Amino acid sequence: MLRPYGRSHWGVSASEFAYALSMTADLTPHVVMAIAAEAEVTGIAYKSLSRFYELPPEVKGLRTLDVCSGMSDFAYGLRQRGAGAYALDLLYADFRLLRARHQESFREVARDVFQTNPDGVKARKIYQGYVQSFQASLKKRPRFYVAGSATHLPFADASFDLVTSFNGVFGTLDFDIRALSQALAEVVRVLRPGGSLQLLPYQKGPILDDHQRQNQIEAVEALGAADASLGFSDTVARESALLGGGVARLTITKAG
Ligand SMILES: C[S@@+](CC[C@H](N)C(=O)[O-])C[C@H]1O[C@@H](n2cnc3c(N)ncnc32)[C@H](O)[C@@H]1O
Repeated sequence: MLRPYGRSHWGVSASEFAYALSMTADLTPHVVMAIAAEAEVTGIAYKSLSRFYELPPEVKGLRTLDVCSGMSDFAYGLRQRGAGAYALDLLYADFRLLRARHQESFREVARDVFQTNPDGVKARKIYQGYVQSFQASLKKRPRFYVAGSATHLPFADASFDLVTSFNGVFGTLDFDIRALSQALAEVVRVLRPGGSLQLLPYQKGPILDDHQRQNQIEAVEALGAADASLGFSDTVARESALLGGGVARLTITKAG
């Protein structure tokens, strides 16, 4: 059953967009919509995310892709440092819906993390601080914000030096093994030889349940078995009591 999402100003709703995408490949509309419906939209800032990744000391001139980027300003932060940084999200097909979902998620953040009234002045100020770089950057450089599904990336093979995903490929798509395997195949496909793919949270992180962890292991093992040119390493990216002990990262490299 497709969800009755509202129409966007582009004249296509996210559900229709997801349906169209899913008809072009193996995934059923039900699975694609289930993923979108499960997904909470967040927008973690570059400042925080850059501490979870192992970024090259010099990103100038690199082509990068952040998958399931939501309202994060991660791509903007990389562009400020000279990268050609793209962000992709299913809900970039419908920015009104993206914003509405993000606002919903932020209410919980205001209550639980900042311990403030989500309708109060303080929460409004924090919210503005979270979204302003994303919104400004989207307005200025819309071509870097690509509407699409992680399971069917609209990019050429071997076209990025660095591909990242936080609470996206892992943390969002991993509740379904087929969607996860397909997204993994896609992020590997667009990575150039010698490039690196960094995905979090892998195995260790507060939002994962046992089913997601099991899917991650199965999908990563299958990927390694199918492609001997890939190298895998996992590490705890950050230890933090706030994050339920810590968050781990899986880094995949493609032989050059
Ligand atoms: C939890 S948010 C993470 C956002 C951002 N990476 C961050 O860390 O703040 C998950 C995002 O994945 C997006 N998403 C869900 N399914 C997707 C799919 N199949 N392809 C692309 N994006 C998807 C959702 O729209 C949502 O913005």
